Amino acid sequence: MSERNSTPLPISGSTSGDDGDLTEVQLTEGLDLGFDGAEDVLRVWRRGMRPDPDLTVSEWADQHRKLSSRASAEPGQYRTARTPYLREIMDALSPRHPAQRISFMKAAQVGATEAGNNWIGFVIHHAPGPMLAVLPTVEMAKRSSRGRLDPLIAESPALRERVSPARSRDAGNSMLSKEFPGGILVLTGANSASGLRSMPARYIFLDEVDAYPASADEEGDPVTLAEARTTTFSHRRKVFMVSTPDDSGVEPDRT
Ligand SMILES: Nc1ncnc2c1ncn2[C@@H]1O[C@H](COP(=O)(O)OP(=O)(O)OP(=O)(O)O)[C@@H](O)[C@H]1O
Ligand SMILES: [Mg+2]
Repeated sequence: MSERNSTPLPISGSTSGDDGDLTEVQLTEGLDLGFDGAEDVLRVWRRGMRPDPDLTVSEWADQHRKLSSRASAEPGQYRTARTPYLREIMDALSPRHPAQRISFMKAAQVGATEAGNNWIGFVIHHAPGPMLAVLPTVEMAKRSSRGRLDPLIAESPALRERVSPARSRDAGNSMLSKEFPGGILVLTGANSASGLRSMPARYIFLDEVDAYPASADEEGDPVTLAEARTTTFSHRRKVFMVSTPDDSGVEPDRT
C-alpha cells in the first residue's frame, strides 16, 4: 500500500482537554481514504466521536458564568465559593456523575435557579443535547426567559457565540426555544400538556415544582409527563427537580 494514498482511519480512543476538544486520537493504518475532502470527513467524524468533557458544572460556572445585574444583587463573575452548598448538587449534574435524577428540596432564595442556569450554560457549551426547562406556567417560562435566560446567554461570550439572539424571523430562536450547535433548549409551563410532550429530551430542569398544577391539561402529573420525554436517552439522561415546599406540610409523592 502506498503511503501517499492511504490516510489512516482513527478507530478509537480519545482524551479531552479542558475545553473538551480532542487532543489525541489513536490511529491505525489500513483504510485507503486518499480522496479529495478526506481530511474534512475525518475532522467531522472526530468531532462526532467527542466525549462529554471531564469538567464539572461548578468548574464551568467559575470560569464562564456571569451574574447579571437584572437578577442578582451581586452581579459579576459567578463564584461557587459564595454558595458552596451548591457545589455537590452542580457536580451531580455534570456528565461524569452517574446520578440521573437530582432532587433539591430547599429554602427560598438559596441559589437553586442559578445552579440550574449554570447547568443550562454548561450543556450549551460542552454537552449539547435536547433540554426541556419547565416552570409552573407558560407565562412564568416567558418571564424566566426574558429575565434570567437572555442575560445568562448575553453575558457569557461562550454562550453568546453559540445561541443567536431571538428574532421574529429566525425560526431557530424565540422566547421559548433556543437552538445551539448540537442541541435545543425549550422552555415550557407545567400547565401545558402540549409543551411537555413537545420533544424527546436528554436533560430536564423542573423548577418550582411545588407550584405545578396537579394535572397538565387533564393529562396527568406534569413531572411524570416531562420525565417520560427522557426515555430514549436511557443512561445519559439527567433530571434536575427543584422545589421549596409550601407551608401545607403535605408534599406530593414524587418517588
Ligand atoms: N454564587 C452566587 N453568588 C452571588 N449571588 C448569587 C449566587 N447564587 C445565587 N445568587 C443570587 O441569589 C439570588 C437568589 O438566587 P436564585 O434565584 O437562584 O435562588 P432560588 O433558590 O432559586 O430562589 P427562589 O426560592 O426564589 O426560587 C439571585 O439574585 C441570584 O442571582
Ligand atoms: Mg428559583
